[in-house]
Amino acid sequence: MDTTQNTQQREVILTGDRATGPLHLGHYVGSLQQRVALQTQHDQTILVADMQGLTDNAHNPSKVSSNILNVVADYLAVGIDPIQTTICLQSQVPALAELTMYYSNLVSIARLERNPTVKNEIQSKGFERSIPAGFLTYPISQAADITGFHATLVPVGDDQLPMLEQTNKIVRKINHLGGKAILKECRPLLSDAPRLPSTDGKNKMSKSMGNAINLGATGKEIRAAVKSMYTDPNHLRIEDPGKVEGNIVFTYLDAFHTDKAYVAELKAYYRHGGLGDGTTKNVLEECLQEMLRPIREKRAMFLDDKAQLVEILKQGSQRSREKTEQVLFDVKGVFGLNLF
Ligand code: TRP
Repeated sequence: MDTTQNTQQREVILTGDRATGPLHLGHYVGSLQQRVALQTQHDQTILVADMQGLTDNAHNPSKVSSNILNVVADYLAVGIDPIQTTICLQSQVPALAELTMYYSNLVSIARLERNPTVKNEIQSKGFERSIPAGFLTYPISQAADITGFHATLVPVGDDQLPMLEQTNKIVRKINHLGGKAILKECRPLLSDAPRLPSTDGKNKMSKSMGNAINLGATGKEIRAAVKSMYTDPNHLRIEDPGKVEGNIVFTYLDAFHTDKAYVAELKAYYRHGGLGDGTTKNVLEECLQEMLRPIREKRAMFLDDKAQLVEILKQGSQRSREKTEQVLFDVKGVFGLNLF
C-alpha cells in the first residue's frame, strides 16, 4: 500500500475514534496533532464512532454514550476546528449502517476471522467462546465509514492497516460488480511520531488500562502518573549510571519537551550517573503540567456548554448525511435496488 502523502492536493480525509473513553496523550502525539495540521489543507471528517464502540460494549452502553461529548471536547480543546473539520456522530449518519449491510454480502466470515487486529482483540477481550456478530463485522462497518465519504486518505495507527486492506477489497468488488469506478480506494497516513508507551512501560497507552494520562487529567493526576512512571529499574543510587533507553521518563521528554538540547544534556548526565529519577521526573512533570493546563481548561469550558457540543455534532452529522447519501445511492444501484 502506498503510504506517501501528497500535501499539494486537497484530499478527502476520514478518520475516527471509538467513543469509549476520554482521549489521552497517546492520541495527542499519534493522531490529534496531525489532524490539527491536516485540517487546513484537506477536506477532513472525524467520526465519533459510537456504533463501533458498541460492538464490544453493548452490555455496558453508557461507556460509549457517556464519552461522546468528552471526545468532542477533547477534539476542540486541542485545536480541531469544527468549521474546517466536519465532526460527526456515526450513529446519526444512517447511510453508514446501510452501506455496512450491502458490503456484508461481499465478505466471508473466514476473512473476518483472519483479520489480525480483530483476532488480537477477540483474545484480549475474552470473546473466544462467543463473538458478537457486530464485533466480528466491524471492519465492514469501518469500510462503510471510509467509502461513504469517498475518503482517499485515512490517518490511522498501524493496528488499523488490516481495516484499510479490507476496505480496498470491498471497493474493488463493488467497482467490479458495477463495471465502473463507483468507490475510491484509500491509503493510510501513518503518523511519523513513535507510539507513546504507557506510563508503566508495559503496554500501549490504553483508555481502559489505567496507564494513560488523559488530556483532561488534573494537576494531581499528572503528578501521580509521572511519579509512578517506569524508569531504569537498575538505577538504584543517584550516582550510578542510568539507562535512557526504555526509560519512560525520557521517552516522554523526547515526545513533549520543546528544548531538545536540554533533554540531550539530561540524558548525558543520567547516563553518566549523578542525576536522580526524582529530578528527571520533576522536569517532565513541569513540562506536562504546562502543556496540559490550557488543554484542560479549554476542555472544561467546552464541557460546560454541552448544548454547544451537541450542536457541533448535529451540524457535522447533517453535513455528513448529505455527503454519504449519494454513495449509498450508487452502491444500491450496483445491486439494482434503485427502483425509486
Ligand atoms: N477503528 C478506529 C479505532 O479503533 C475508529 C474508526 C471507526 C475509524 N471508523 C473509522 C478510523 C474510520 C478511521 C476511519 O479508533
